[in-house]
Amino acid sequence: MNQSAAHKWLGGKRLSNPRLSDLEPLFEKRLAANFTLLDQLFQELYPGRENDFSSLLERLASLFRARPRELQLQDLQRLGAGNWYQEGKWVGMQLYVDRFSASLSGLEARLPYLEDLGINFLHLMPLTRRPKGPNDGGYAVNSYTEIDPRYGKTEDFLQLTERFREKGICLMLDFVVNHTSDEFSWAEKARQGDPKYQAYYYTYPDRTIPDLFEAHLPEIFPETAPGNFSYIPEMDRWVMTVFNTYQWDLNYSNPEVFLEMLGNLAALANQGVDVVRFDALAFLWKKIGTSSQNLPEAHKLIALFRLCLQVVAPGVIILAEAIVAPLEIVKYFGEGRLEGNECELAYNATLMACLWDAIATKKTSLLYKSLLSLPPKPPEGSWINYIRCHDDIGLGFDDNHIRQLGWDPGAHRRFLLDYYCQRLGWSPAKGAIFMFNPLTGDGRITGSAASLLGLEKALETGQADALDTAVRKIVLMHGIILASEGIPLIYAGDELAALNDYSYLKDADKADDSRWINRPYHDWKAVASLKKGKGPGAQVFGQIRSLIGLRRQLPVLGAAGKTHLHLTGNDHLLLFERRSETDGVMVIANFDAEVQVVNASWLARLGYLAEGGYHNLTDHSRGKVQSGLLEVPPYALMWLQLH
Ligand code: GLC
Repeated sequence: MNQSAAHKWLGGKRLSNPRLSDLEPLFEKRLAANFTLLDQLFQELYPGRENDFSSLLERLASLFRARPRELQLQDLQRLGAGNWYQEGKWVGMQLYVDRFSASLSGLEARLPYLEDLGINFLHLMPLTRRPKGPNDGGYAVNSYTEIDPRYGKTEDFLQLTERFREKGICLMLDFVVNHTSDEFSWAEKARQGDPKYQAYYYTYPDRTIPDLFEAHLPEIFPETAPGNFSYIPEMDRWVMTVFNTYQWDLNYSNPEVFLEMLGNLAALANQGVDVVRFDALAFLWKKIGTSSQNLPEAHKLIALFRLCLQVVAPGVIILAEAIVAPLEIVKYFGEGRLEGNECELAYNATLMACLWDAIATKKTSLLYKSLLSLPPKPPEGSWINYIRCHDDIGLGFDDNHIRQLGWDPGAHRRFLLDYYCQRLGWSPAKGAIFMFNPLTGDGRITGSAASLLGLEKALETGQADALDTAVRKIVLMHGIILASEGIPLIYAGDELAALNDYSYLKDADKADDSRWINRPYHDWKAVASLKKGKGPGAQVFGQIRSLIGLRRQLPVLGAAGKTHLHLTGNDHLLLFERRSETDGVMVIANFDAEVQVVNASWLARLGYLAEGGYHNLTDHSRGKVQSGLLEVPPYALMWLQLH
C-alpha cells in the first residue's frame, strides 16, 4: 500500500469519540507522515501479510481514539516544544514502590522528599500483576496494565500519574516487551494446547530446533536458569526461556504478537506514562546460528513500535534497555533510515562500567579509550547517565581497548570481580558476585553504590580516613553523572549512602538472585535525622542535593552545553568540559588516593582560572595555584565555571 492508499483507507473511517473529533485530522496527518517507513518495515518483517497490515492500520485508528484527550493535548504541546526530554531540568531517580514507600498512595505522600532533593523524573519498577513466587522483581508479567494489589489499585496509579502531570514530574515505566510470565493468559492457553497461543511463543515438540539455537545462544542467568529452553510437560513442548524458566520469550516473527503487544504498549502510554523503558530489547528477534541479540530485525521491530507511537501517542518516548557492547548501544538511537525512528533514550552503560573500572584501577585510561571510541549519537538521542541500577554491573568493555592498554582482558576482568566481590583483602569494596560462570570465568557485580565504594567496610573498621574516602568517592561518581550530557538517574537510597541489604538471603524466592543486595528499603529514619545528622549518609545527601541544585542553575550542564573530553596525560584524572557559546564548566575528577595536578596555564587559557586562583563550585572552595599547577586532592570532584 502506498501513501495515497493510506488516504483512501482512511477516507471511509471517521473517529467516533466526540471528545476527540476536533483532533481527528491529526491521525490522518500523522499516519500519512509515517506511512512509507511503516509500510516498508512491516513488509520486510512480515512479507506477504497484507491482511495483518490492514489490521495494524485499523488498530492504530482505534488506539488513537482511545488516547485520553488530556494526553492528546500534551502530545501536541510536546511536539511543539521539540525534544522536550533534552531539556536540562530533568534529574531522575529509580525506585521500587514497595521498598520506597510501600504503596502508590504512599509514594504520593513522599513526593515532597523527592521534590526537596530536586528529582522530577521517576523510573518506577514494574507495577503490574506477577506470579506469587519468583517473578524477577515484576519482570515476569501476568498483565501489562493491571496494577498488582500490593501497590494499590489502578485508580491509585491513575491518580498518581495525574499528580505527576500537575507537578511536572516525568514518569518512566517498563514495557517488558521480550517475554511474559508463564502465568500470562497467552501462556496458560498455550499450555492447555491452543496452537494459536503456542505460536505466540517459540515452542517446539522436541529438542531439534532448540539444540540448533543453543549452539549459538549465550546464557543470561547461567547459575539459576542454565540453557535457553524449558520443557513444559502439560503441553509436551519446549519453550524458549532466555531469562528465567518462568519468563517465556514472545515470538515476534508472528505479526499477531506484534499487534497485541502494540495494544499493550498503547495502553501503558494511555495511563499517563511519559517514557517507556523497552526492557531487554536487544533480544527481540531470534535467529538460529546467531546469538539472537542486536539483530537487524530487532531494530526494525523497535522502529515499527516507535512509528506506531508516533501516530497514536507522539509525546511518549522510548528508552532502550540495551546493556550491550559499546558499539551496539548507540545503534538503538536508530541509524540510516531508522535514525530518529528508534529510541530517544539509551542507558550510557559504557560510561557506567568504565567509572567502576576507574575506581578499582585508580586509572581513567579505559574510560577515555571507551568514550573516545564511541560513535557519536544522533543529535535527537540522549543518554541516561547512571552509576548503577537495580541490576548487576556488567563488565561491558571492548576487549581490544583493554589489550591496547597493555592489559590482558581475562585477567583484567578477574581483577575487577576480585576487587568488588570481596576476594581481595585490601579492597575497600564490599559487593557480591552475580552469575559467575566457572567455565568462562565471567561474572557480574552486585552491591549498593556506597558498599561498592567502601563505606560498609569503613563503618565496620571505624577508620575515619576510610569513611572520608568512601564519602568522597560516592560524591565523585554522582558528580560525574550530574555534569554529563543527558538525564542523570540516581538509584533510590544511593543519595543517603544506603548500604547493601542482606535481607533477601532469608527469602527463598530471592535468595539465589544477588541483585536484591542492591535494592534496599528506603531508610526513612535516616531521612528524618538528616537535619541533625553529620554522618556519612547526611554528608552524601547534602552534597548530592546541592549538586542537583547547581546542575539546574547551570544551563550549560543541560542541553545547552556540548561535551569536550580533555586528555591531560595524567591517567588518574578525568577532565571534561561542558561548553556553550557563552558559558562553560570544566569537570575534574581525581580517581587516585594521591593529589594529582593539572597544568594551570592551560586551564587559565581556556578561561577556568581567574587571577591565578580557582573556584570549585561543588564545595565552594577557592584556592591559589602553585608552581603553575592546580592541585586536585584525592578523589576530589571539581566543577570550575568559565570566567
Ligand atoms: C532487564 C531488567 C532485569 C530483568 C531482565 C529480564 O534486564 O533490567 O532486571 O531481569 O530484563 O526481564
